[in-house]
Amino acid sequence: MELFEFMKEITVQAGSNIRQKLNEPLLIETKSNANDLVTNMDKETERFLYETIINTYPEHKIIGEEGSGKDINDLSGTVWIIDPIDGTLNFVHQGENFAISVGVFIDGKKYAGVIYDVMRDKLYSACAGHGAYLNDSPIEPLTNTALKQSIVSINPNWLTKPYTAPIYGPIVVDARSARSYGSAALDFAYVATGKVDAYITLRLHPWDFAGGLIIAEEVGAVVTNQLDESLNMLHANSILVANKALHHEIYSNYMKPYQTELLTIHQGRFHSR
Ligand code: IPD
Ligand code: CA
Ligand code: CA
Ligand code: CA
Repeated sequence: MELFEFMKEITVQAGSNIRQKLNEPLLIETKSNANDLVTNMDKETERFLYETIINTYPEHKIIGEEGSGKDINDLSGTVWIIDPIDGTLNFVHQGENFAISVGVFIDGKKYAGVIYDVMRDKLYSACAGHGAYLNDSPIEPLTNTALKQSIVSINPNWLTKPYTAPIYGPIVVDARSARSYGSAALDFAYVATGKVDAYITLRLHPWDFAGGLIIAEEVGAVVTNQLDESLNMLHANSILVANKALHHEIYSNYMKPYQTELLTIHQGRFHSR
C-alpha cells in the first residue's frame, strides 16, 4: 500500500503544478500530424513524475507517452505506465477536461491505477483487489445496463470512416445517446463511476488505458479489445469497456458480426506502441 499512496501523492502534486502554471504561455509543438499536439507541460509533467519515481525507487521502470522507456519491451519488475496529460487537445483548447493517468504493474500483474482530473481535483484510484475510490469515497460496483438505456462514449471520427461506420453506427443508433469527452482516461473513469455505460475506441496506447483498466475492472467493468481479448500492456489496442451485460451485448451483437473486418483492422495496426 505504500507504493499506492506514493502513486496518488505524486500524481496530485503533478496536477497541482499544472494548475499553478495554467496561465503561463504554452509552448505547443506538433507530433505525427497537425492535430497531434504536445506542450511543454506534457513534457514537464512526465519529467517531474519520472524523476520523482526514480529518486524514490531507482529500480522501477517507467514508460511514458512523451518518450520515457521507449526501449522497455517486457513487464518484468515494477513498471509504471504514465500519460502525463491525457487530453492534450482539451488542455490546449479548453484548459480543462484533461487528466494524468498512471498504472503500475508488478511482474506483469495489475497493481494499481490512478487517474487525476486535474481541474476538478478529482482523484480516481484503485489498488487491485482493494476496491476503487473517487477521492476518499468508495466507488460502487457497476450495475448492468442494456444498450437501449445506455450512454456510450465514442469519438465521432469513428463514425465518419467508411471502414468503421458500419460497425459503430448501429451501436450509436441503438444506444440512448452518445458522448465524446476527448480524454481516454476520463472515459474509463466515467465508465467506472457509471456516468457513461460503455467506452468504445479503435486505437489507444498503453499510457491511455493503464490506469483506467485497473480502476474500471475493480468496479466490475469488463475491459477488452474489440476482438474480446485481454489488453496487451506493451502495444496499442482497440478498446471496449462497459459493465458486464453491456459489454456482452455490444460485443456479441455489434462487433462479432464484423469479426473478419475487425481482425483485418487489428492485424494492420497493433504491433507496436
Ligand atoms: C488522446 C486522448 C483522446 C483519444 C486519443 C488519445 P493524448 O490522448 O485520450 O481522447 O481519443 O486516442 O491519443 O494524446 O491527449 O494524451
Ligand atoms: Ca498525445
Ligand atoms: Ca493519452
Ligand atoms: Ca498524453
